[in-house]
Amino acid sequence: MYVCLCNGISDKIIRQVVRQHHPQTFRQLCKLIPLGNQCGKCVRAAREVMHDEMLHT
Ligand code: FES
Repeated sequence: MYVCLCNGISDKIIRQVVRQHHPQTFRQLCKLIPLGNQCGKCVRAAREVMHDEMLHT
């Protein structure tokens, strides 16, 4: 499922990046993949996916 339509980023990609790079903050995640840098509508959903994955790793 796409989380960020502007950049074509899926929840799978976010989870993969969280598992591999262990960003501690959403800002750090955004340095690894382009998220929320255009319309910004995906920020809340992307943050939720990141936190969910952090709980399970
Ligand atoms: Fe992510 Fe627009 S949907 S910046």
